[in-house]
Amino acid sequence: MVKVDMFIKESLRFNSNVLSLPRPCVRETYTFANGFQIPYGRPVFLDISEISFSEELNGQNPQEFDAHRHNSPATKPDNGFLIFGSGIRACPGRFFAILLAKIFLYHVLLNYNIKAELENAKHKQYAGFFIGLLKPGKAGIVFEKSA
Ligand code: HEM
Repeated sequence: MVKVDMFIKESLRFNSNVLSLPRPCVRETYTFANGFQIPYGRPVFLDISEISFSEELNGQNPQEFDAHRHNSPATKPDNGFLIFGSGIRACPGRFFAILLAKIFLYHVLLNYNIKAELENAKHKQYAGFFIGLLKPGKAGIVFEKSA
């Protein structure tokens, strides 16, 4: 289960673009420690690719999928892994979500042979920092029911 957990964490790192969706500053003007301010009502876009694909935060070759990259559970937010947010407002449903992903993978691996159809595969297309959100990659995945 540790390896499945690491695999899920790396998969989520590659698909954290949902965090790029704009969020408004809902309270009064927010001031960062360095003095930078966000006025009330201003929509904020987070350039998540700067975080998810940072070598400093995620180790060597951050653009490559490495299922052995992580040494902490997928439910643990850290500076390079913000899919569930962070701090006291971190997603409380993350334990449930990761458990469901594991149960789903367990059933799929038990019942199907899976192979990728990489011929004519199209990579994700980048549109600003909305990584692949607007034009997701198109690589076929074939599920064959195992006997
Ligand atoms: C892969 C699945 C999920 C992802 C990626 C996700 C992501 C997030 C993120 C980014 C936040 C905002 C954290 C912040 O503002 O710092 C959040 C908040 C929240 N999530 Fe999730 N979530 C997932 C599944 C779930 C599930 C399954 C539940 C409930 C069963 C849930 C319940 C909540 C709640 C109640 C909050 C608000 C927490 C607060 O504001 O204090 N989430 N989630």
